[in-house]
Amino acid sequence: MLILSIETSCDETAISIVEVVGDFPTATYSILGNALFSQIEIHREYGGVFPALAKREHIATILPMLEQALGQAAIPKADFTPTLTEEERTHVHTLLAREHALGDQVLGFHERYGSVPINAIAVTTGPGLEPALWVGINFAKVLAYLWNVPVVPVDHMEGHILASVFDGHHLAPVVFPAISLLVSGGHTELILVRDWNQYEKIGQTRDDAAGEAFDKVARLLGLPYPGGPEVGKLAAIARSLALPPFAKLPLPMLYSGDLDFSFSGLKTAVRYAIADQVLTETQKQALARDFEDAVVGVLIAKVKTAIETHGAYSVILGGGVSANTQLRKAMSSLASPLLFPDLAVYLPEISLSTDNSIMIALAGHAHLNDKLSPATFALTIKADGNHSL
Ligand code: KG4
Ligand code: ZN
Repeated sequence: MLILSIETSCDETAISIVEVVGDFPTATYSILGNALFSQIEIHREYGGVFPALAKREHIATILPMLEQALGQAAIPKADFTPTLTEEERTHVHTLLAREHALGDQVLGFHERYGSVPINAIAVTTGPGLEPALWVGINFAKVLAYLWNVPVVPVDHMEGHILASVFDGHHLAPVVFPAISLLVSGGHTELILVRDWNQYEKIGQTRDDAAGEAFDKVARLLGLPYPGGPEVGKLAAIARSLALPPFAKLPLPMLYSGDLDFSFSGLKTAVRYAIADQVLTETQKQALARDFEDAVVGVLIAKVKTAIETHGAYSVILGGGVSANTQLRKAMSSLASPLLFPDLAVYLPEISLSTDNSIMIALAGHAHLNDKLSPATFALTIKADGNHSL
């Protein structure tokens, strides 16, 4: 079967076409098309993602992404040109009332391309920025209507979990229970995974997400958005030069007695450490390393506690911050003879660690039984910015 997946929850507009042979979770997946447009350059001057701007950019790029993915997948145009009735054209415009500019473009595309032989559409419905999520949802509504295919609503965070155990063709045979640490720009969560589709949130941030903390500290250091990779680069230089610590930073919530996190105090501590000094390059490198060590230190300490508490056999790292080299190293080192000798550690391939639509196709396949008819999806599904696993 062919799944078309759509991701627009934040600042990436992504569409994939994935061929699936077999049942979840043992199926073989082939990525036939994978188109992704990152809005990072557009948001950079604002130092973060600006929701209204994200929505506008998703509207502008979503159809080109679809055509790009179809082109990569070499899905041929249908050999007849569908003619839509006036009523059908009006319905398309109604579904895209809030993405006004897209209506005529989608109708033009449909007349050029015809119905595409997709079996199901998977789309992120939350969590994320609601104006951004709506673009993907309404686009899914229209494609489902025009092609008469069902739609599977997908949780973005479940996508991150599945991406982490995906090798490009198969999902790893994860032994449960597993602990998943999800760290992104909007989330920092520990999830107890008892089985696929059985998730329980056992810890979360009380204020800033880990990625958000990286982004804010990057700003304090005069580095561009997104800050995670930039802070990571400076920290790596500090380590290679073995620079002495610049600041003694707190390890927030280390002894809170639960699995929650808090990163806003850490960011404030970085601000106080800088005070009104103009830092040298070396001082910035040392401070970036001090900050990264603190974040990774707290994350890993809580993961250890979660593994012990729940007798986990596996840990799964997911979300944009999972691209962080230091965090990846620390996660890998949990599977050591002195700590957890039998632990399986799953890290996403770097290309799948930040937002993408391949992970949405995987989560869509996991929930294929929950697929909705085009009409039911259109009538019942809303963007849910705070959706929780
Ligand atoms: O999952 P993601 O792509 O989008 C959200 O759903 O939020 O995560 C983006 C976040 C940003 O805060 C970014 O700074 C952070 O992930 N990030 C990193 C790295 N690469 C991306 N943080 C630390 N180190 C990195 N290498
Ligand atoms: Zn994400």
